[in-house]
Amino acid sequence: MKATLVWAILAAIGAVLVVGLGLYNVSARQGHLPGVSWVLHTAYKNAVWLRAPSEEEVPDLTPPSLVDLGQGHYENACAFCHAMPGQSRAETALSMLPAPPHITEAVADWEPRHMFWIVKNGVKMSGMPAWPSQRRDDDVWAVVAFLTAVKRGERHGEAQTELPAGGDLAGETGSLPLAPAAAVYRDQCLSCHGRDGFAGGNVFIPRLDTLPAAYVAASLQAYRSGARQSGIMQQAASQLSDPQIAALAAYIANQSRDRLAEHEVGNLDPELVSRGDVLAHGGDEKANIPSCVSCHGPASSPRSDHFPPLAGQSEVFLRDQLMLWKSGRRGGTDRALMMHEAIPDLTKADMLALAQYYASLPPSR
Ligand code: HEC
Ligand code: HEC
Ligand code: HEC
Repeated sequence: MKATLVWAILAAIGAVLVVGLGLYNVSARQGHLPGVSWVLHTAYKNAVWLRAPSEEEVPDLTPPSLVDLGQGHYENACAFCHAMPGQSRAETALSMLPAPPHITEAVADWEPRHMFWIVKNGVKMSGMPAWPSQRRDDDVWAVVAFLTAVKRGERHGEAQTELPAGGDLAGETGSLPLAPAAAVYRDQCLSCHGRDGFAGGNVFIPRLDTLPAAYVAASLQAYRSGARQSGIMQQAASQLSDPQIAALAAYIANQSRDRLAEHEVGNLDPELVSRGDVLAHGGDEKANIPSCVSCHGPASSPRSDHFPPLAGQSEVFLRDQLMLWKSGRRGGTDRALMMHEAIPDLTKADMLALAQYYASLPPSR
C-alpha cells in the first residue's frame, strides 16, 4: 500500500514538473518518443474504421462533374498540405508533425467511406482540419469523388478549366474599378463557375450569369458568416472583404451575357415538367404552397433583386437546394425566411417536378 502511494506521489510530481515547468518539448522538429507515433496512428486508424459510414451510404462518385467540383475545392483547401497529384508537397507542409501525406499516399489505404469520415471530421492534434460545414454531407462527397478518381489513377492534377490568357478578363467590362474584382474572380472563382459565371454544364455548380448583384453579394455574405452552409462556398467566401464582395457582385452582374443561351437541359420528363409548371404558378389544390413565380419568375413584371431567378439552373442543383430547404439545412440571406415558409408542404415529388420545370426554362434574368 505504502509503496504504491509513494509511486503515485512521485508520478504526480513528475507530471507537474513536465507540464508545469515546460520540460516536455513540443517542438515539431523533434519526433515523438519511441512508440508514441505507433500508438497515435493505430488509435487513428481504428477510430476511422469504427466510425466510417457503411458501404450502402456511399453515393455514386463517378459523375465527372462531381469529380471536377471536388477537385476545385481540393485545389483551394487541401493542396497546400497534400499537394496535387504529380506535384511535390510545400516545404512548410513537410515540416509539420505529422507531415501531411502526399495525396497519392493519403488515398492509398482507404476506401471512399473512410475518406469521407476523415475529410468530414478531420484528425485531432495532427493538423488535418474538419469540414467547415457540419450540416451538410453532400459537398464532402464531391471531394471524396475526386480522391477516389486520384486513387484510380484517373486524375493527374491538371487544371480542369483553361484560364483565359493574362489580363483580358479585366478589360472586358471596360470599367477600371472592376479590374481588381476581375482578378479575384479569375483566381478564386473561375475554376468552378466558369468564365462568364456559367460552369460549362456542371450540374452541381449554379450559374451566376442570371443572378442580380444584390443577391450575389447577400449570398456571399451569408456563406462568409456561415448562415448559409456549404463547405465549398464557405471556404471560397471566407477571406473576402466587404469591398471585395461588393465589387465581385457588381463584376458578376456586369459580365457579358454571351453564354446565357448555353443551356443543357438533360433528360427531363415532360409530365413532371408540366406538373411543375402548374405548381410553380400556384395552381395546386394544396392551399399552403405559394406561387413560386411571384417571387422567382418567369414573370413580365420586375421582381426584387434579392430573389434569385431559377430559370436555367440545373435540375440537380435546384433539387438539392429544395431538399436542403425542406430539411432545414439551407440558410441564406435575411430573406431566407420566405423560403422556410414556402417549403413545408412540398412533397419530394413536388420538389422533383418544380426542379424539372425550372430547369426546362431557358436561362433569363
Ligand atoms: C493544414 C494541413 C492539412 C490540410 C489543409 C488538409 N489536410 Fe488532410 N491531413 C493532414 C495531416 C497532417 C494528415 C495526417 C493525419 C495522421 O496521419 O494522423 C492528413 C490526413 C488526411 C487523409 C488520410 C491520410 C492517411 O494516410 O491516413 C486524407 C484522405 C486527407 N487528409 C484529405 C484531405 C482533404 C480532402 C483536405 C481538404 C479538404 C485536407 N486533407 C486538408 C493535413 C492537412
Ligand atoms: C470549388 C468550387 C467553387 C469555387 C472555387 C467557388 N464556387 Fe461559388 N459555388 C460553388 C457551389 C458548389 C455552389 C452551390 C453551393 C450551395 O449548395 O449552397 C456555389 C454557389 C455560389 C453562389 C450562390 C448561387 C445561388 O444560386 O444561390 C454564389 C453567389 C457563388 N457561388 C459565387 C462565388 C464566387 C464569387 C466565388 C469566388 C470568390 C466562388 N463562388 C467560388 C462552387 C464554387
Ligand atoms: C415570397 C417569396 C418567395 C416565394 C413565394 C418562393 N421563394 Fe424561393 N426563394 C426566395 C428567396 C428570397 C430566396 C433566396 C433566399 C436566400 O438565399 O437567402 C429563394 C431561394 C430559392 C431557391 C434557391 C435558389 C438558389 O439559387 O440558391 C430555390 C430552389 C427556390 N427558392 C425555390 C422555390 C420554389 C420551388 C418555390 C415555390 C414552391 C419558391 N421558391 C417560392 C423567395 C421566395
